[in-house]
Amino acid sequence: MMFKVPRGTKDLLPEETGKWQAVESLIRETCRLYRYEEIRTPIFEQTELFTRSVGDTTDIVQKEMYTFEDRGGRSLTLRPEGTAPVVRAFVEHKMFGSPDQPVKLYYMGQMFRYERQQAGRYRQFVQFGVEAIGSASPAIDAEVISLAMDVYQRAGLKDLKLVINSLGDKESREAHREALIRHFEPSIGEFCSDCQNRLQKNPLRILDCKVDREHPLMDSAPALTDYLNDGSAAYFGEVKKSLDALGIDYVVDPNLVRGLDYYNHTAFEIMSTSDGFGAITTLCGGGRYNGLSEDIGGPEAPGIGFAMSIERFLMALEAEGKMPETESRLDAFIVALDEESRKEAVKILGNLRREGIAADMDYMDRKMKAQMKAADRQKAGFVIVIGEDELKNGAAGVKNMADGTQETVEFGRLAETLKSRS
Ligand code: HAM
Repeated sequence: MMFKVPRGTKDLLPEETGKWQAVESLIRETCRLYRYEEIRTPIFEQTELFTRSVGDTTDIVQKEMYTFEDRGGRSLTLRPEGTAPVVRAFVEHKMFGSPDQPVKLYYMGQMFRYERQQAGRYRQFVQFGVEAIGSASPAIDAEVISLAMDVYQRAGLKDLKLVINSLGDKESREAHREALIRHFEPSIGEFCSDCQNRLQKNPLRILDCKVDREHPLMDSAPALTDYLNDGSAAYFGEVKKSLDALGIDYVVDPNLVRGLDYYNHTAFEIMSTSDGFGAITTLCGGGRYNGLSEDIGGPEAPGIGFAMSIERFLMALEAEGKMPETESRLDAFIVALDEESRKEAVKILGNLRREGIAADMDYMDRKMKAQMKAADRQKAGFVIVIGEDELKNGAAGVKNMADGTQETVEFGRLAETLKSRS
């Protein structure tokens, strides 16, 4: 029997993990510049956390969650997203009491959604996300958007499109909701059963239905922006002004609604416009979620954030030819010619590593030539040769692989010599 990686997941082999690490450090560095600190929450949470926040009429909750009962009869769910867990932690640890508001957090970790597998869509994927919780200032909306753009741009991406919209406050959304019901109700029979259920419960969700995407009533549906009350329109205006001040280009798309229920006011997505990119072009999505904290039992704490998957980030880097170069290099490789030399090599190896020198040796009883080849493949900076004569003299042959020069170095002085030569 041959086992395979589960559908919708993938193994990352060493030639790929190097690229991941490069992207991860760029992300961490950018977060440091914006003063966002890392938070790590569990992989699973109480199921109700997601049904309440993401919303029980969304695709995520209805079709995509990995939900299971543990041995104690509790319903748990592998996290499909990171915002609800972070806000849960914010409330649970009373971070609203910190003098440093807004609390600015970031996370990087596996998320799980039972989705149809296709390029850029996995069942286990890694999201990097940020959440700024505690401020209702439009300037923080612009900061969060700017952080996302900055991460991509620092990695070298150019083919990016930022799309923004406002979903308005509760009152605006209610007015829009009624308009949507009036729009879809006469023809709701032509829509899928999910949409029929959504009509009264949450008609906004009809707009991101994957089944009825092509229905003519979709394009003519009333736009949220036409239903914004004065306060919401003014807020959106301020966000746009802040983006202008930061020199960030954007397009307003009144049809951008996002697939999760907790959003209000600002919503945004960043797309890849690169030719080489697949059918799914969204790299990143986010928005404001005032009220989410109260919905899960916390105090008032307006928030905004985004998430992007590292998988799609790397796809965009590939499409634009900007994949980071990552060559793992070894400082030294020890070639040992017989059993006694091998014992000495083990000791030397220990010394070198203690001194912070990346070193390796042969463990396959290979002949000298094959050991030299291995040193070459591993891009060793120096090769240290130990044989009968070297043991007798207590000094090894050291070859600098960059320029071919050779010298003899006492065993006890190998580390300092290698350090001074590199
Ligand atoms: P989302 O739009 O569901 O939002 O996901 C955000 C990003 O996660 C997407 O733009 C995409 O990069 C990535 N993503 C989602 N599903 C998959 C998948 N199946 N395979 C690969 N990548 C995927 C959220 O999750 C919100 N929590 C974002 C947010 C944070 N809003 C406020 N704060």
